[in-house]
Amino acid sequence: MSYTIKLLPSGHAFQAKPSQTIVEAAIDAGIHLPYGCRNGVCGACKGKVVEGKVHLEDYQSSVISEEEIKNGMTLFCRAIATENLIIEIKELAITNNIRPKIFPVRVEALEQLTHDVMLMKLKLPSTDQLQFVAGQYLEFLLKDGKRRAFSIASPSHESSLLEIHLRLIPGGEFTEYVFKEMKEKSILRVEGPFGNFFLREDSKKPIIFVAGGTGFAPIKGMIEESIQKGMKRPIKLYRGARVLEDLYMDALCKRWAHEFSHIEYIPVLSESLSEDKWQGREGLVHEAVLKDFISLNDYQLYCCGAPQMVEVAHKAFTAQGLPEDEFYSDAFTFAAPVKK
Ligand SMILES: Cc1cc2nc3c(=O)[nH]c(=O)nc-3n(C[C@H](O)[C@H](O)[C@H](O)COP(=O)(O)OP(=O)(O)OC[C@H]3O[C@@H](n4cnc5c(N)ncnc54)[C@H](O)[C@@H]3O)c2cc1C
Ligand code: FES
Repeated sequence: MSYTIKLLPSGHAFQAKPSQTIVEAAIDAGIHLPYGCRNGVCGACKGKVVEGKVHLEDYQSSVISEEEIKNGMTLFCRAIATENLIIEIKELAITNNIRPKIFPVRVEALEQLTHDVMLMKLKLPSTDQLQFVAGQYLEFLLKDGKRRAFSIASPSHESSLLEIHLRLIPGGEFTEYVFKEMKEKSILRVEGPFGNFFLREDSKKPIIFVAGGTGFAPIKGMIEESIQKGMKRPIKLYRGARVLEDLYMDALCKRWAHEFSHIEYIPVLSESLSEDKWQGREGLVHEAVLKDFISLNDYQLYCCGAPQMVEVAHKAFTAQGLPEDEFYSDAFTFAAPVKK
């Protein structure tokens, strides 16, 4: 049994099984709905049920209010159709037809970059090729059915060895395991690629990248992919960190800026230490962007990092002239679902 989900305003339709969320069914059908965490935490998939009923699984209550739900709004990554639906949500103009798949990976290398950032290199079986676009993410499938999302930090032309940057979350089930117990050569199961955070190549606008912490990971993949493709759109890369040690792969960013005249690198520290002898920009990374541009009207902006940073940056950048549809983001929400 399955239900028909009709989309407004596009008029497209797809089928959803009772075991699937609307976002899962749309991904299966090759329909591109907006989403981020797929976990009821970021709000990227919010839209309206115009006709029909859904069952809403666990979500974070700060993301959608009771009032909104009463008015027909829902989170499509947590909504399951219980009858045929007409829903209102803007489809993304994406032409690729990449479908996620489940596959095993071998942990080829684990390299600790800072006290709380681990570089993980994942090797795919020699028979498998992963099709993805730089900036997308994978989900690690844990034994108990839980999932953990991590962005792919490498470009798609290097798809046989995937790079992941993991920040240690104190008390976090997966990242503590990676830091304390995981050994190289371990075999893990992942599903992917997921996500809509990738470079829109059809635009000629100059690009501003804003990365907080390991939010640098998907942006690194995008920059490397753009270099490989010979793209010359001007890029300003803003990276935010607390102290100098947190600015992992700083030398790589400096090298890009040195080798490519269209790339500029602006690291920003919020709590630099005296031993850092920091002479660069200070403060919050999004504030550095606001200081540098009178108007963001002519730019395309990609922002990734902690959810609070992404939310504050989104408000501030659009208030400073950035068109709403030129803001692309991935918010690194925690996976742990918070009960209603
Ligand atoms: C699209 C996407 C891409 C991402 N990419 C990256 C990336 O490239 N790099 C990166 O570092 N991170 C990334 N993240 C964030 C990463 O997925 C989370 O940090 C992840 O939850 C960490 O997993 P964990 O098992 O270590 O922590 P979790 O077990 O998920 O714990 C997270 C937090 O919740 C607390 N917690 C856990 N269980 C409970 C409970 N029952 N009650 C109360 N509190 C609890 C923990 O103490 C901890 O503070 C991404 C997230 C998303 C959504
Ligand atoms: S994708 Fe639905 S809340 Fe994040």
